[in-house]
Amino acid sequence: MNKKTGVKILGTGSYFPKKILTNADLEKMVDTNDEWITTRTGMKERHIAAPEEVTSDLALGASLEALKAAKIDASQIDLILVSTITSDMFFPTTACYLQTKLGLKDIPAYDLLAACSGFIYGLANAKAYIESGMYKTILLVGADILSRITDWTDRNTCVLFGDGAGAIVLTASEEDDDIVSVSLGADGSYSPLLYMYGGGSVCPATAESVAAKHHTMTMHGKEVFRNAVPKMVLAAEQALEKSGKKLEDIKLFIPHQANMRIIEAVAKKLNIPMDSVFINIHKTGNISSATTITALDEAIKTGKIKKGELAVLVAFGGGFTWGGAVIRV
Ligand code: UT7
Repeated sequence: MNKKTGVKILGTGSYFPKKILTNADLEKMVDTNDEWITTRTGMKERHIAAPEEVTSDLALGASLEALKAAKIDASQIDLILVSTITSDMFFPTTACYLQTKLGLKDIPAYDLLAACSGFIYGLANAKAYIESGMYKTILLVGADILSRITDWTDRNTCVLFGDGAGAIVLTASEEDDDIVSVSLGADGSYSPLLYMYGGGSVCPATAESVAAKHHTMTMHGKEVFRNAVPKMVLAAEQALEKSGKKLEDIKLFIPHQANMRIIEAVAKKLNIPMDSVFINIHKTGNISSATTITALDEAIKTGKIKKGELAVLVAFGGGFTWGGAVIRV
């Protein structure tokens, strides 16, 4: 019998726009304060894209860093996947723009959308393609410019989000199996709790829809919070079960960075000590698709997780969608 094809992580990378928006800056924009934002969310600052920067620019920055870490040339990639809710345009895809910016042609490139769980959905896609032999080397990117779909007059949401991108290069391997397991879930009946109403077939752009701010995010925070905790716990448990690993085997827990209180509640329910939990929410805010991959990249670069060690990635977002993955770095 032939040996099963595994997936090897070749390299990761991140890109953050230069501009930093602090809680003090937000105090000048809406009726909020550093104390509320810090105690209710754990956030201190977030990166904001420059007016001329678009999502594929952030994706390019992260991809170039990931390719450098992977020590391969872009020409070796045979599929590009981009997870985003803020693509450059409604269509064509950000993945197509990224392909051109990387100087590539002809290889398939597409976006996938699962909100904050999108990167983990992307991991599932990439794992399946590589294991089936359909594609060998995949560039997977999570990139979002949430500042473009934020209502900057709404204190309930505008303090929470930021911009950034992360990328990972994955390749087929006979020896390694770094994406040990991925588990996904969704429940569309919760879509009214976190959404952007305008821009799709329900509410095409009109002068009225723009005036009504339908092209910015709406979130019912408390209800989202209530659902995020059990679903992230479930995603971690399911990914662990599929992997055949136990919590004791895991070096680092890397959760979606939407709220420090959510992260603490999930860690408590899973019985994971906080010093085994990766946190960068204070520097990034919630960057949706980019969150788990930029966190993983930082964890690798800062030595919080070392070669051969296992991490659990967990995310939850609009849809609702959720996902967990056990990976070996
Ligand atoms: O990534 C996708 C998934 N997203 C999430 O997981 C986010 C989940 N939700 C949350 O993180 C939290 O629900 C929030 C951070 C959004 C809000 O925290 P909360 O503890 O649920 O606060 P709340 O919405 O119940 O608001 C409490 C109070 C309200 O005032 P009153 O009505 O009690 O007088 C809000 O108006 O805090 C007020 N408030 C603020 N005050 C100062 C809301 N936002 C702010 C603010 N500054 N920025």
